[in-house]
Parts: sequence; C-alpha cells; structure tokens
Amino acid sequence: MSFFEITGRRRLSGSIGAHGAKNSVLPILAACVLAPGESVIENCPGLSDVAATVEILRGLGCRVGREGDVVTVDAACVEGGVIPEHLMREMRSSVIFLGAVLGRVGRAQMCYPGGCELGPRPIDLHLDALRKLGAEIREEEGVLHCRVPDRLRGCRLALPFPSVGATENAMLAACTARGVTTITGAACEPEIEDLQIFLNKLGARVHGAGTPVVTVEGVETLHPTRHRVMGDRIVAATYLAAVGAAGGEAEVTGVDPCHLATVLEVLEQAGCSLKSGGHSVRICSTGRLRGVRPIRTAPYPGFPTDAQAVTMAALAGGEGTTVFEENIFQSRYRHVSELARMGADIRLTGRTAIVTGAPLHGAHVCSTDLRGGAALVVAALAAEGTSRVGELHHIDRGYDHLEHALTQLGAQIERIN
Ligand code: EPZ
Repeated sequence: MSFFEITGRRRLSGSIGAHGAKNSVLPILAACVLAPGESVIENCPGLSDVAATVEILRGLGCRVGREGDVVTVDAACVEGGVIPEHLMREMRSSVIFLGAVLGRVGRAQMCYPGGCELGPRPIDLHLDALRKLGAEIREEEGVLHCRVPDRLRGCRLALPFPSVGATENAMLAACTARGVTTITGAACEPEIEDLQIFLNKLGARVHGAGTPVVTVEGVETLHPTRHRVMGDRIVAATYLAAVGAAGGEAEVTGVDPCHLATVLEVLEQAGCSLKSGGHSVRICSTGRLRGVRPIRTAPYPGFPTDAQAVTMAALAGGEGTTVFEENIFQSRYRHVSELARMGADIRLTGRTAIVTGAPLHGAHVCSTDLRGGAALVVAALAAEGTSRVGELHHIDRGYDHLEHALTQLGAQIERIN
C-alpha cells in the first residue's frame, strides 16, 4: 500500500506544466475507434484511466502503442464490441465507448457502470440519446446489449441536463449516422471543443461545441489523424490551489486561463495575486487565504465541480468563512471527514459545506476519490508538520505523478511504497 509523505508549510516556487487533459483524452481515444487506420494522440498523460482506456481499445481489436506522451491507435480492424466488465468497473466513464463502437461496428455490449465514490452515476441520458439515434438497447441482468439494425440516423436531441458524457456519446454516435443530428442543451466544457476539433480532423462535420447547440452532419467514413490534447484545467487548478494554500510564487503553464476563470476569480478573492498569460498563470500567495463569496458548482462556464475539493482544502487552512454548494454530484464531500482529521472546520448540511478557516496540522488520511485525494495533498502542503495520504490509486487516475510536479515546485513530498 503506497502513500505520500508530505511535510507542510514550505513555500512553493518555480514553474510547472499542466499535463494533457484526462477528460479530453478519454473521449478522444474512444473516438479513434471511428476511423480505420492509425491515429496519433500527443500530450497524452500517464494516468491509470488512460491505461484502462488503452486496454479497452485493445480488447476491441485496436493495436495501441505508446512512446512517452504519444499514443498511437490503429483502428484498422475493430471487430469486437464488448467492453469487459472489470474495465467498466474500474472506469465508469468507459460508457463513452458506446457511441463510437455503435457508430463503427453497429453492436456493443457492456455492463451497467456501477456507482462511484461520487454517488450514483446514471447513464439514462446516454441511453436515451443513442436510442433516438436508432440504437436498440436492452438491459439483461446488468448487462447492456446494444445493436443498430440498419445504420444510426441523425435526429434532434434535447438533453434535459448538460451532461458532459452524454453530449460526447451523442457526438461520437452521430458522426457516421445518416443525416444531421442537432444536440440542444449540450454541455459546453472546453474538453468538448477539443473533441470537436479531433472529430473534424478525422473528417467529421461537427459544429457548435462549446455552446449549448452542437450540430453533427453524418459522413460515410472517417480517416485517422494526429492531435495534441489540450492541457488539463483541473490539474492546473490543483497546482494553483497548492501554491495558494502553502504560500509562495509560481507559474502554471500549458493551460488556457480562460478555461479556469471561475477558479482564478475565487483565488483572487481569497487574496492571491494572479497574472494570466496566453497559456500560463502566475500566482503569488501569502499562504493565508481569506474566505470568499459562496462557491456554487455548476456546468461550464460555472465553477467546476472537479475543482471544488482542492479549492475547499486551500481555504480550509486560511482565515474566514466560505460556503460551498455542490450542485453536480450527489456525494462529493467525502474528503471533508479526512480534512477534519487535519483540523479543518467544515460543517455539512446536504449539498452545502460551510468552511471556517483554521490552522491545519499533519495527520494520516486516506484519499476517498480522485479530486478528494488531491484535496488532501493540498491541505497537507498547508499543514504544520508531516502528513501521510494513502489510497493513492484514486489520485493516480487523474494526476500524472503528482508528487513529481509538486517536488518541482519545492514541496517536500515523497511516494513511499
Ligand atoms: C464528466 O463526467 C467528467 N468525467 C467528470 O470528471 C466531471 O466531474 C463531470 O463531467 C462534470 O463536469 C469525464 O469527462 C471522464 P455528467 P460525466 O454526465 O460525463 C448526472 C473528474 O474528477 N447524469 O456531466 O459522468 C450525473 O449523475 C471527473 O475528472 C445523469 O443523471 O458527468 C451527475 O450528477 C469526475 N444521467 C451530473 O449528471 C446521465 O445519463 C453530471 O454528470 C448522465 C449524467
């Protein structure tokens, strides 16, 4: 069982690059299934979720290679349509393969993705969209059996909630459908714009990503391409929260500051001074953040739910009070009890968390989920003394060697196996 050993209250400095975006590279790798031939994906992070996605691609018949941050996917002979149960359980966002596999081979089988640490993770919006596009989907004992009797056909889809995954699944399925698909109520996250760029490089005709109306004009075939994945805005937000919490002056590069404007706004209100460049943010912090106006998570361009935990951790060690409202996931406060072991004063009532800044001290804590684990690292960097953060497999799903990046900024953090 490995853990991070972290000695807090060391000011951070230097420059660190945000690696490729997990939530962009996963749908892009799934989209490779649509195009016979070898696609090349650059700036691909070394994450366990990426490794799971590669296993799924290989199981579908793709040949996948990796050299550093470049992954090649040869989807010349995709014949399978089965996503193995153990990989579905390991990574519930594997559901994103459904649209691409149905678009390419016309059949797919996968088990219902279980809930995860964030609460139930329904996929009703995904299945509704794919059925409207012409897929027959039946569920038998927790297994989804999907087939396309003829060919997917374009239609008008209205998402009742801007689900990121459902928007992406519909885009992938619509690329080679007969006719035009219009997705209204689409999610507007930057990762969806990155997916649109990739799909159009494959020869698809997708427009409107980043707005609530995405249009896909179906084409007969797609061809492979090369693409560099955008920087991870949540990893960048995590690095910024770490400097905000520990104090210091540093630069985070490889990300568009516009993509994390709401997080920058909060850090500025909390007393940090920020300077944004084209693809970088400089931050200067005293290490004693102030309370800020209520933080309500919302679909993009609102405050990202994925940055809630790390921002909470940075504010928990400061002064003043901040109210959080988690409006996207049902239970995304599991890090709160672990933060409390470090002295954090956080009161939960339903979707609301009231954080009152207090001096944090080192403790032995366990990651509860991907971003909750990152939050414990942020808190440990601000805490007096030494902490241990366990269950690192959660963190490794979305951070490529987090300890290397923080060491580069001067943190005292070591992975101990
Ligand atoms: C994506 O998850 C991200 N994951 C999540 O990042 C992110 O938190 C989330 O979008 C919101 O931004 C990937 O991109 C791989 P949703 P996704 O569909 O697609 C409900 C991280 O930490 N819903 O927008 O699963 C759902 O239960 C991860 O990097 C339905 O009810 O998110 C949730 O409450 C965590 N029915 C809300 O919508 C559905 O069919 C948002 O889900 C689908 C979703």
